[in-house]
Amino acid sequence: MADGQRLEGGIAGAPAHAVGSTVDIDAVTHRYATMVAVDNVSLMVRAGEIMALLGPSGCGKTTLLRIIAGFVRQTSGSILINGRSIDDRPPNLRNIGIVFQNYALFPHMSVRENVAYGLKARGTPRSEIGGRVDRLIEAVHLTGMEERLPRQLSGGQQQRVALARVLAVDPSVVLLDEPFSALDKNLRLDMQIEIKRLQREFGLTAILVTHDQDEAMGVADRVAVMNKGKIEQCDTPVEVYDRPASLFVSGFIGTTNRLEGRVVSAGPDGVKVELDHGGVVIGRGQDPVAVGARVIVSVRPEQLVLHSEPADGLIAARHRLAMPMGSQTIHELEHGRGNTIKVVEQRVGAPRQAGNAVWLGVRPDAVPSVFATPSSTSSSQGSIS
Ligand SMILES: Nc1ncnc2c1ncn2[C@@H]1O[C@H](COP(=O)(O)OP(=O)(O)OP(=O)(O)O)[C@@H](O)[C@H]1O
Ligand SMILES: [Mg+2]
Repeated sequence: MADGQRLEGGIAGAPAHAVGSTVDIDAVTHRYATMVAVDNVSLMVRAGEIMALLGPSGCGKTTLLRIIAGFVRQTSGSILINGRSIDDRPPNLRNIGIVFQNYALFPHMSVRENVAYGLKARGTPRSEIGGRVDRLIEAVHLTGMEERLPRQLSGGQQQRVALARVLAVDPSVVLLDEPFSALDKNLRLDMQIEIKRLQREFGLTAILVTHDQDEAMGVADRVAVMNKGKIEQCDTPVEVYDRPASLFVSGFIGTTNRLEGRVVSAGPDGVKVELDHGGVVIGRGQDPVAVGARVIVSVRPEQLVLHSEPADGLIAARHRLAMPMGSQTIHELEHGRGNTIKVVEQRVGAPRQAGNAVWLGVRPDAVPSVFATPSSTSSSQGSIS
């Protein structure tokens, strides 16, 4: 924003004047000594979009954010904001806001002083600062708490001050590195709603690193799943959940059952797989697979349905455990010898008793994913991830 227009437009509740900036990560690689932390990553974040970055510990998420912010200089590749390279700009000239997990507020400064800090440091005229800070404090629902010190606030309130402080200087992009992981579930939900709202109000472009899949699914417009320095898939949350591009993604996003088997037919209607321990499943081939190929079927607990009678193609199993969880019951079943399958069903009344023989089928509207069995690994039948 040149001079407060975007902020004011947003605060008034009207659509933001500007729609944020694009971030273009172009073939970025980073090595720490010989270790490749970020491996030829290309990712385009659209203007006004929240992109969640998900992946296991050590896959390179923070490194990528630090490169975008300018704290780490990438080994190769380029970062562009609105199409312009920012590689040669120091962090303070990138206009990028950052919120970390435990964003340290200045402990001796009030909420108001914390939020005003960046504006003062920039030399914004005093006359402008007051109104702007008030509007931001209002935007994060902290009106009335302006004079409190950080230690007089809850964790969620402190995070909202941190957000307001970052937004005060109107960054073109906000980077959030697990900003809510220290908060309890309810506060986290509040903050997630807050981020969505601020996105709408300010046309915020944000990259949000999170370990929490529900957070990624709920908050993000798109999700990028990272593994070993690479992006394995980038798509809408629903698409990533329903059509995982790889076995890794299928196990990392949500819960899934992995069942090994062999392809008996493959055509436009799907890939038909005969499971090693009985049962037939028709799924979508995520890898090219030929008849006779060894495959792993990834089927989610909610894609399965329990039957009390056997029928053609159903998967025979023994019922081990039923865990009622509010509106749902999670069933744990054994299939073959020692292989666990999880099934989730809506709960009405008391769950069925354990120990019975049951049969499993795939819901008619569900499409499991079928992956070629990796040649180098020997994953076990029926493992759950
Ligand atoms: N300053 C550094 N020097 C050397 N290696 C580093 C440095 N910072 C990170 N690494 C290594 O680079 C890899 C990626 O680290 P990074 O912090 O980006 O992971 P992450 O995805 O953010 O993980 P987490 O989810 O645990 O925060 C890790 O193997 C890490 O040990
Ligand atoms: Mg990290």
